[in-house]
Amino acid sequence: MRVVSGIQPTGNLHLGNYLGAIRNWVRMQDEMKDGEQCLFFLADLHAISMPHTPAELHKATLEMAAAVVACGIDPQRSVLFNQAQVPAHAELQWLLNGTARMGWLNRMTQWKDKAGKNREGQSVALFGYPVLQAADVLLYQTTHVPVGEDQKQHLELARDIAQKFNNDFASEDAPVFTLPEAITPPQAARIMSLRDGSKKMSKSDPSEMSRIELADDADTVMKKVKKAKTDPEPLPSEAKGLVGRPEALNLVTIYAAVTDNTVDAVLGEFGGEGFGKFKPALGELLVETLRPISTRFNELLGDREALDAILARGASHARELGRPTLDAAYTALGL
Ligand code: ADP
Ligand code: NA
Repeated sequence: MRVVSGIQPTGNLHLGNYLGAIRNWVRMQDEMKDGEQCLFFLADLHAISMPHTPAELHKATLEMAAAVVACGIDPQRSVLFNQAQVPAHAELQWLLNGTARMGWLNRMTQWKDKAGKNREGQSVALFGYPVLQAADVLLYQTTHVPVGEDQKQHLELARDIAQKFNNDFASEDAPVFTLPEAITPPQAARIMSLRDGSKKMSKSDPSEMSRIELADDADTVMKKVKKAKTDPEPLPSEAKGLVGRPEALNLVTIYAAVTDNTVDAVLGEFGGEGFGKFKPALGELLVETLRPISTRFNELLGDREALDAILARGASHARELGRPTLDAAYTALGL
């Protein structure tokens, strides 16, 4: 089993990113058995398909790398790297561009959504992005790719490209590419803003009070939890009592996600209590959970050499793992 997964580099990393995305990586890593391997990359090449600020992308990539290590990705066990530091991703994309069909890409719903009515004004990279995604996984003979609903179509496309390439350019007993299977990542919590229960916790919310950041110190975490929007009612004893109370539900959901419990189990403990009791308990839980993460995160960001070394080692390992497939693809094409 070989799993490959990428994440878009973003800054202002918050609890939602941890519980909704990074923690799943850590779980996948921890489930790998002997001889199995996870490759995790920061999708910085994908980021240039949309308008972006170079300095911000660079900073976000480093922050995301520091965050995933701080959250528990072990660069000795998993291969962690920046996509841009492994040129084979871009090279293989070009080789696959000869096989991918315009019609296939035109049918991608993400392309349609992102481009909207202004197709002519989009970058070629945005259109071809799913081919880069195909390269990301096909390069490593990946067997399994964790994909959410929104990425299923892109994985299908990767399989179509692999199949057509194998048919057109390889002999049946020596295919160049493995067709990757989708695996459903564990159901991740969706964390809402601490200021507005109808909005997702997000890096782009102008209010810092709306999110708990991975870099926050203990006092800041406690303050943000204390100031979180709630209502005057005590907590109910069952989840259905939280209907119509999005802010209360969100705080209980956070508690449940962090402790790996159900909302009902948390309410079993706190039902009947007011927020005067629940908020300090949640605050302390978050402080304890985030303390090692924020310590390591800030340490890594303050030690660029260590961080660069981790990424350089990961990239070198990834280049080695991808080399045979890239060579085989060139050869199959007569290049
Ligand atoms: P943001 O919404 O802050 O801009 P991104 O879109 O950069 O975050 O998301 C990076 C990853 O973190 C994605 O996998 C996304 O699903 C996850 N994520 C972001 N916000 C949340 C949230 N509030 N709850 C759960 N997961 C989230
Ligand atoms: Na976003």
